[in-house]
Amino acid sequence: MNNIDISKGFVDKAVCVENIKEEIAKLKKEKNAVVLAHYYTEGEIQDIADFVGDSLALAQWAKKTDAEIIVMCGVHFMGETAKILCPGKKVLVPDLNAGCSLADSCNADDFGAFIKKNPGHTVISYVNTTAAVKYHTDIVVTSTNARQIVESLPADEKIIFGPDRNLGNYINSITGRNMLLWDGACHVHEKFSLEKILDLKKEYPSAKILAHPECKKVILTVADHVGSTAALLNFSIKDDCDTFIVATESGILHEMQKKCPQKTFIPAPPMDSTCACNECSFMRLNSLEKLYNTLNYELPEVTVDEDIIERAKLPIDRMLDISTKLGL
Ligand code: 13P
Ligand code: SF4
Repeated sequence: MNNIDISKGFVDKAVCVENIKEEIAKLKKEKNAVVLAHYYTEGEIQDIADFVGDSLALAQWAKKTDAEIIVMCGVHFMGETAKILCPGKKVLVPDLNAGCSLADSCNADDFGAFIKKNPGHTVISYVNTTAAVKYHTDIVVTSTNARQIVESLPADEKIIFGPDRNLGNYINSITGRNMLLWDGACHVHEKFSLEKILDLKKEYPSAKILAHPECKKVILTVADHVGSTAALLNFSIKDDCDTFIVATESGILHEMQKKCPQKTFIPAPPMDSTCACNECSFMRLNSLEKLYNTLNYELPEVTVDEDIIERAKLPIDRMLDISTKLGL
């Protein structure tokens, strides 16, 4: 196993496996591994995963699994969160290059300095952050529980919220708080075009617009429902409407279409029609071939320094405890 090259961030060994899906299933069983996938990964990854969910659900699953190996098909911070919650387990990701532009918009040292400059604040970090940023954090939130967690704090509590300015502004607007915001954003959610969404709405007048709170305010203002990936999925299942314009990463349409084959889901277009900017290039680094290699070679592994694990576990556990109490 030592001569395997992961210098590119994934196992660079040509894989030519017939029936790759069956082989992945075999390896999972043999190695007592569980495959967790985010809704933004390719449909074929979602279909083969043991569990598909949003960031909160992936963390909850990682915490409760009995499997010895967790393979996180998502992005790096999701793997780090699983490792922090289960330090004794082997946590693998198919490609270590699967980062997150939002997490990258918040450097841990700069965030630490921002906190120092603004003393007396409770620090809330979105889960889309590195473990080193969580080290500086009092409570972690996801888009599923951010509102409730902020509302669970006294109304006069001074709060720093990072790194997503759009989610932070949205939470401020619905809770009436005045959280101090870090100025970060996601490259996918910032690029949706209001003009093109409204053009689609003219074409499909009865369609409802669904938007993730990482989108800019102009998009959230026209949305019929704002929520996490899981919340948007649930809304699309329960609502009577049969057509939805979906302003979040387009991978979620796979599960929406699977759950509601009779309904129409239209991905919201980005400003630049020549790019596939409503796809997260990091999430799309997960592939069946890399998943096979990852299970086969048990590489690449997510590692987090012990002192960071010890400190970063506290705000994640706080989030999970509050979520359990809230029934989330
Ligand atoms: P969710 O927690 O809503 O799945 O969001 C994760 C994410 O990365 C959004 O861009
Ligand atoms: Fe990060 Fe944006 Fe990709 Fe979500 S869609 S993982 S926030 S880069």
